[in-house]
Amino acid sequence: MPSEHILTLTVNGDRRRLLAPASRTLLDLLREDLGLTGSKHGCDVGDCGACTVLVDGVPRLACITLAADADGCAVTTIEGLATADGLHPVQQAFHDHLAAQCGYCTPGFVVALAALFAEHPDASDDRLRETLGANICRCTGYTKILDAARAARGAMKP
Ligand code: FES
Ligand code: FES
Repeated sequence: MPSEHILTLTVNGDRRRLLAPASRTLLDLLREDLGLTGSKHGCDVGDCGACTVLVDGVPRLACITLAADADGCAVTTIEGLATADGLHPVQQAFHDHLAAQCGYCTPGFVVALAALFAEHPDASDDRLRETLGANICRCTGYTKILDAARAARGAMKP
């Protein structure tokens, strides 16, 4: 029987206490134990970015992060970005610029860009491309995603 640990995390602002095997990934904890299915299984080996979430504000690939490594941390998923006032500016920009086709990759892009703009609201185009390059989209050709990223940058500038 694998060893299990009690983990305490704050997920999208809610404090959660869960029992999890030592081998549980953060992605499986979020999707299967908490029902937060916005973060996606893509490659499951850290190559595609579909599982990107924020751990204490820093983008992390949840498929290769052990849930135990997020113990005591604040985790933000795509479900936690919108507020009562509306969509996060990156979400709104993706909507406005039709930057999703199948949408499977979209949560990872949005979370990664939200983290970038939180740190660098005036990130250069090169920085945008570098961030987008860490995520794989098989549908859009990236042009509309880059358009959306630029629009979100404009919307988030202080
Ligand atoms: S599913 Fe995590 S990087 Fe691809
Ligand atoms: S919109 Fe389909 S993989 Fe990106």
